[in-house]
Amino acid sequence: MRRTLRNWRRPALFLAMLAALAGCHRATLPESGTYPARLYAARCGTCHAAYNPRSMTAAMWQVQLQAMEPRMAATGHPLSDDDRRAILEYLTRNAGG
Ligand code: HEC
Repeated sequence: MRRTLRNWRRPALFLAMLAALAGCHRATLPESGTYPARLYAARCGTCHAAYNPRSMTAAMWQVQLQAMEPRMAATGHPLSDDDRRAILEYLTRNAGG
């Protein structure tokens, strides 16, 4: 039993390191595949590539999001209250320090 556990640790550590590396890659958004990540990519990745949430602090994201809202409204597709909240929460959760 102990032996089995020990053998499992190495590949698990290796996978964790791979995941960490993948998280640093600009093309891979955090929480990739989840609803908030897809919503963010869909709403914030059309005019320009979706910026990685880690590239800014939560406070900066709040400002950036506000700055983008008139642009989004001008396309005839403004952010709904729910989408704004979900995107801001997603960015805040994954923001850089
Ligand atoms: C309608 C097109 C459009 C959409 C949709 C859009 N943006 Fe932008 N975004 C722009 C343009 C144009 C610029 C560059 C000019 C500027 O900074 O105002 C920009 C720039 C940015 C920048 C860089 C600012 C800087 O100082 O370098 C960030 C960060 C950003 N957008 C975040 C977002 C986020 C977050 C969303 C989703 C809520 C979003 N954008 C959706 C058009 C858009």
